[in-house]
Amino acid sequence: MSDVQSRITQLRKELEEHNYRYYTLDQPSISDREFDELLQELQKLEDENPQYFDENSPTQRVGGQVTKNFETVVHKRPMLSLSNTYNREELEDFIRRVKSGLEREEVEFVCELKYDGVAIGITYENGRFTQAVTRGDGSKGDDVSANVRTIRSVPMSLRSSDVPDEFEIRGEIFMPTESFQNMNAQRVDEGLEPFANPRNSASGTLKMQDSSIVASRGLDIFLYFVLTGDKRFNTHYESIEAASNWGFKTPDPKKRYIETARSADEIFDFINYWDEHRRNLPFEIDGIVIKVNRYADQEVLGYTAKSPRWAIAYKFKAEKVRTQLKEVTYQVGRTGAITPVANLEPVLLAGTIVKRASLHNKDQIEKLNLHDYDYVFVEKGGEIIPKIVGVDEEARTSESTPIQYITHCPECDTELVREEGEAQHYCPNDITCPPQQRGKVEHFISRKAMDIDGLGSETVNLLFDKGLINNAADLYELTADDLLPLDRFAEKSVDRMLTGIEASKEIPFERFLFALGIRYVGETVAKKLAKSFKNLEALQSASLEQLIEVDEIGERIASSLVSYFQDDKSLELVNRFKSFGLQTEMIEAEGSTDRLAGSTFVVSGVFENYEREELKKLIELNGGKVASSVSGKTTYLVAGEGMGPSKRAKAEKLGVQIIDEGDFNELIGK
Ligand code: IVH
Repeated sequence: MSDVQSRITQLRKELEEHNYRYYTLDQPSISDREFDELLQELQKLEDENPQYFDENSPTQRVGGQVTKNFETVVHKRPMLSLSNTYNREELEDFIRRVKSGLEREEVEFVCELKYDGVAIGITYENGRFTQAVTRGDGSKGDDVSANVRTIRSVPMSLRSSDVPDEFEIRGEIFMPTESFQNMNAQRVDEGLEPFANPRNSASGTLKMQDSSIVASRGLDIFLYFVLTGDKRFNTHYESIEAASNWGFKTPDPKKRYIETARSADEIFDFINYWDEHRRNLPFEIDGIVIKVNRYADQEVLGYTAKSPRWAIAYKFKAEKVRTQLKEVTYQVGRTGAITPVANLEPVLLAGTIVKRASLHNKDQIEKLNLHDYDYVFVEKGGEIIPKIVGVDEEARTSESTPIQYITHCPECDTELVREEGEAQHYCPNDITCPPQQRGKVEHFISRKAMDIDGLGSETVNLLFDKGLINNAADLYELTADDLLPLDRFAEKSVDRMLTGIEASKEIPFERFLFALGIRYVGETVAKKLAKSFKNLEALQSASLEQLIEVDEIGERIASSLVSYFQDDKSLELVNRFKSFGLQTEMIEAEGSTDRLAGSTFVVSGVFENYEREELKKLIELNGGKVASSVSGKTTYLVAGEGMGPSKRAKAEKLGVQIIDEGDFNELIGK
């Protein structure tokens, strides 16, 4: 190693250490000035010797990298959310469920703060930061690595060699209250709209293209979940202690940020303490998370589709304020559903300025007995949109009259309908009512539906305005000649959009079905329907009875489907989609076998004929398991080009069979 190189290495190490002491331990040992001098020395050496560039270098903490499009990354394990409880009984029910699930009375829990930020999953390979991905929809998120590198309390290299070769750690990125206030003060100075709350600003900041802005925003992190892929820990608490030793910012038991508990009383002691003291914290929390401590117990309890059965969130009581109703307006959704909205005299509620609240439907308005200019009580619970929970009838003036619900669509003036047993009014004009037309296309192209790259709501609106489309099928007839004359449409973006539209023809049938936006046919229902009917023709000709026979499809969904497929306009649309070659048949996970059943694979390095992710999918398709690091449980290590020597050494030591791409092909009979 040259002198320069070793000085660079040494400086990086020292600076990383000072970052750790300052941002993670809150115990700096040198002055800011001394720190800056070391950083400048490193910066100079790096500038003069670009061959030693390292994206994990402390010089990169200030950002500078610009990410135009965040890449979508599939989570190795889904990022779940937690179910919520709001009172002692509900929490006691949870404890009872846990005990009965484990068939045991003594269970150890861990109580933690519920940080109000955004979830992140960070991967480390050979002790170095490699990737940070947002939660996204839970199964895939955005690669925001460049932005996360600027968060000083996220270690770029770990402080222990006893870490798995490759592992993921999850936690919450948040904006401390002080950073939030500073940022908003600055925004107001610059004549910009302030951010509503620290949570929104953390998530907005994390999605910024310019990482140097992210670096200046003062984001922070707490880690709460270690996924090592091996069995090195017996309990969650142990894993958090280890993560702390590895250099991560984890909750400090001395500050009572984390605690074990063995009974409802002990859990409530923690909850009550924080309900009282949470306002003194330098960051916002919206509740407490309670987790079963032992991994073996967690495994027994398992998961529902959305959340673990071994953990739950306790949400603090919502705050309530009083304000005056200015006006009720009506929104028309993509399915024509009408939502009344209360426009309020702006009021501060739990750190957010509230101007609007949802009123849900006509019954709700009647139930509240809402009158013009009433004083109302507004509450913010778990949901994002605040709700009106009551009316201050005493403050009502005698001339005020009850709110009259509209009879005609505010957008197209068609008479509204309300079907029997339904709470919502609808505008039946789904063909020419503007928000319905546009909303349907916006839904069609959305991420969970056709996920069309290069096309967003703004463009959809522009295409409508220019008369280029009237519905989603029209998208498939757009040409470069249509688009190029439009403002801000360069060749590149036109190309991207048309390629995106073309690529959407390969989107699986169940997502296409969801994309159609048939009333009550959400993602899960679409999947169920695709699975049972296999193709569009069969679904189209299914009778009400046949539809109801499908698990979890009730009469409401069934009749919505029948009337959709009886409608000439929908049929025309569907036929056009078919003629463009969209997927109207269910493709079963083709080629699935159990050839690899019982074997666990670790995949490492670069392969000639496969992307690494592809190889992992193939393993799962053939019934095998994929692990992230080599352990005693590993059956095969699939070694590609450039695999680290430590992985090989470990596999050899543990007697794990090391195979190459060719051997793997043989295993799956290829
Ligand atoms: S554990 C599988 N612990 O709350 C369990 N989550 O709705 C994963 N959160 O998405 C979550 N503080 O973003 C856990 N101490 C904590 C947390 C926490 C905040 C967030 C997290 C999650 C959401 C749950």
